[in-house]
Amino acid sequence: MPLVTDPDDIPDALLDAPGRGPCTEVLMARPTHFTVESAINPWMKDEHGNLNRVSQPLAQQQWDALVQAYLDVGVGVHVIDGAPGLPDFCFSANQSLTWRDDKGRRHALLSRMASDTRVAEVPIFERWYRDQGYEVHTLPEGLRPFEGTGDAIRHHGQHAYWAGVGPRTRLEAWQQVAEITGAAIIPLTLKDPRYYHLDTCLCVLSDRAALYIPGAFDQPGLERLKAGFTDLIPLSAEDARNFACNAHCPDDRHVLLQSGSEATVKALSRRGFQVIELETGEFMKSGGSVFCLKQELP
Ligand code: ARG
Repeated sequence: MPLVTDPDDIPDALLDAPGRGPCTEVLMARPTHFTVESAINPWMKDEHGNLNRVSQPLAQQQWDALVQAYLDVGVGVHVIDGAPGLPDFCFSANQSLTWRDDKGRRHALLSRMASDTRVAEVPIFERWYRDQGYEVHTLPEGLRPFEGTGDAIRHHGQHAYWAGVGPRTRLEAWQQVAEITGAAIIPLTLKDPRYYHLDTCLCVLSDRAALYIPGAFDQPGLERLKAGFTDLIPLSAEDARNFACNAHCPDDRHVLLQSGSEATVKALSRRGFQVIELETGEFMKSGGSVFCLKQELP
């Protein structure tokens, strides 16, 4: 399948993509060895240029509360354990992309991490998928980077993805992802280094609505987004910095969101979404929040 780049083709490409339904299960990685050891994105240092310091026990509490929030809204949670020396392992959006085919078989495409410090995370996820009976796929040798659902935001209900092109995933990878997955792929170039993964600047809420950070995209990207959503909600600079775009709406109804983004909460409530505010401050010190802490399972 060719990448979908012409805005005029986007509405039909989304409608024609195979249906997939809401997210009912996620895979989360316990933050046992979570820390900030080196800065691989602009959020990992403080204003003086020092590496952020995280509290592992507090991170564990925040993570436990996120697990509970998923269970409360009826989403099942699978848990995978990391290993010492893998400080970013808990960001389980990044190591893979999963889907179900029309015969009901489950698939996982493994990522090629941009940063050497994260490469060893992927085989641990691979093992989990194999144990669960997934068909596991890899990109052609040497094609790097591709960071899974950090850059692949699913259009709700569909086997179709908004696809970030930037420091963590290159355009050539998307061509292969389209072939391997059979999904509709709409590339969006990321132009602001702070919004290094698509999941930091786009949050799909339903097949009509999405939160986004306009300044993170180039003009062609903005036009594609406008063609895909009738209700694009821009974030204030303040809520953007508070990771409000890294929220997750599993079911067109509940939105799990970092707490303290008042304008975003108002915009969501006005549209009938039920907002669940959570504290993910320890993970924000590493450049992530709700969305990156889980992998949607098919
Ligand atoms: N420190 C991690 C990294 O830079 C954070 C990843 C957050 N994940 C995300 N999908 N935005 O790789």
